[in-house]
Amino acid sequence: MSDSDGPPHYDTIVVGLGAAGATAAATLANAGRRVLAIEAQPRVGGRVHTVALGDGVVELGAEWIVGTKNSRVFDVATQHNITIVPQDPTMLAYLSDGSPADTQLVGQLLLQVEAQGPSTPEAQGNFTTRKIMEEITKNHPHLLKDEDFISGLLQFLNLYINYLEGSSDWNDVTTGGDYEDLEGHRSVSWARHGYNTFFDIMLNTYNGGPGLPNLDIKLNKEVRVIRAPQHPTERVTVECGDGSTYEADNVIVTVSLGVLKDKYSSLFSPPLPENKQTAIEKISMGVLDKIMLQFDEVWWPLNVNRFGFIWKQEDSKKVPVSDHWVTKIIGAHRPVGSTNVLTLWTSGDIAKEVETLPEDQVKTKCVELLQRFMGNTLNITVPQPAAIIRSTWYSNPYIRGSYTYDNILTPHYPDARDWLARPLVDSSGAPRVLFAGEATSRRHFGTVHGAGETGHREAMRLVNKSYKN
Ligand SMILES: Cc1cc2nc3c(=O)[nH]c(=O)nc-3n(C[C@H](O)[C@H](O)[C@H](O)COP(=O)(O)OP(=O)(O)OC[C@H]3O[C@@H](n4cnc5c(N)ncnc54)[C@H](O)[C@@H]3O)c2cc1C
Ligand SMILES: *[C@@H]1O[C@H](CO)[C@@H](O)[C@H](O)[C@H]1NC(C)=O
Ligand SMILES: *[C@@H]1O[C@H](CO)[C@@H](O)[C@H](O)[C@H]1NC(C)=O
Ligand SMILES: *[C@@H]1O[C@H](CO)[C@@H](O)[C@H](O)[C@H]1NC(C)=O
Repeated sequence: MSDSDGPPHYDTIVVGLGAAGATAAATLANAGRRVLAIEAQPRVGGRVHTVALGDGVVELGAEWIVGTKNSRVFDVATQHNITIVPQDPTMLAYLSDGSPADTQLVGQLLLQVEAQGPSTPEAQGNFTTRKIMEEITKNHPHLLKDEDFISGLLQFLNLYINYLEGSSDWNDVTTGGDYEDLEGHRSVSWARHGYNTFFDIMLNTYNGGPGLPNLDIKLNKEVRVIRAPQHPTERVTVECGDGSTYEADNVIVTVSLGVLKDKYSSLFSPPLPENKQTAIEKISMGVLDKIMLQFDEVWWPLNVNRFGFIWKQEDSKKVPVSDHWVTKIIGAHRPVGSTNVLTLWTSGDIAKEVETLPEDQVKTKCVELLQRFMGNTLNITVPQPAAIIRSTWYSNPYIRGSYTYDNILTPHYPDARDWLARPLVDSSGAPRVLFAGEATSRRHFGTVHGAGETGHREAMRLVNKSYKN
């Protein structure tokens, strides 16, 4: 529509074009609604971001399709005959003294970590420590006298939880909550297609497609204020950082919980209801970051995809305080999409700290770390990386973290995610400001499929009820 036609009439404005926003926008556009999607960043995808590195592509954000049954993401890939690749999650473990750890033992214990929680919710660390000590006492009693190994192992399992949740400590995480895994393989990679392909398919730009006819997309445009009307005949207005204003019958807000925590008091007029504010404050936004190193030649073992780093206390004690963060890197991982890259993972407060460190320093320390755990064991000198790239999800003003997790307050606020999801209605009860995004999913938060589900949920709320002025 050209400017001379006057401002286009939109049924719905979608704020943010991550998995939730893209799903909402596509669902509405395909149902014949006129949709405007406004995205602050110069690209579509949000916490999905595929970039070229090494001889292929890597994922700065979401890496896997986590479970395949009833997954919108898996279905989209398979329906378009995209070759996706299940990745074997077996982990080879190394010790900080440059010797291999008992990989079978570590694998068994990792399974314990993912075991079903107790009926009364408790802190994850307390629960897991108990489970692990039971398992060791029962099946590996000879380890009990090696206190240094046990404490290193518990440290490592703490990091493993933080890597799954984005938390800073496993006792911040609850064993309670309603999270559910999807059935099926939980590490399916988009491989050389990249996770971004999900967005190309959803928005009909895959293979040079023309996009969706009812959907206008504006990138590089930050929404600053969303005004919700009380009166049924008034429209919602959305004010942007560049001074532009748009109107529609309703708006679906998909910004992350991290952005809401930062901005909710200025983003909404009138202010949000109290239970929504409570939800925003009580739910935790975790941080998970990746450091990706490209090498000219592959020097690591090819029979597994994950390498775990277990510190012995006597070794970690010798690391200077300023380098403490290197002892909190869970390990390295081979991305499916690029054969000559290794990914190192950080989480929680350590990830936030590493985001602020100079790149050269991070690179040097990471090579030392790889040398200590892998190089020494393999009896090789780890070469200098040809390139390094890092994710900075916490510093990113439009994301402010990686994904939400259920913290130890969750059992006291079991409905918080539903409060977050509840639409703001006008005086006739029609939803005007709707909320989607992974944080609004009680069972599937923290995932791309969960985010997609929430976008679909809110789009269908509008399509089914046919709320229109
Ligand atoms: C490092 C990492 C690894 C992950 N690994 C996996 C994985 O393996 N598998 C998995 O399923 N999930 C994974 N996730 C989680 C998954 O990426 C997210 O749950 C999902 O992508 C969130 O989608 P969303 O639409 O809810 O939010 P987002 O992707 O955050 O989308 C919200 C959009 O809103 C935009 N925005 C923010 N503020 C404004 C504003 N004021 N105006 C306009 N636009 C705005 C943002 O730029 C963003 O594009 C991972 C995430 C990270 C960070
Ligand atoms: C996928 O492959 C099947 C079988 O070869 C074919 O019938 C179908 O049209 C393909 N779908 C797409 C979207 O290419
Ligand atoms: C974990 O257990 C310790 C020791 O029993 C206790 O002091 C602590 O409060 C527990 N943590 C949480 C968060 O419940
Ligand atoms: C390690 O490698 C060097 C040089 O390749 C070799 O001389 C040495 O014997 C090796 N040491 C071990 C323990 O394999």
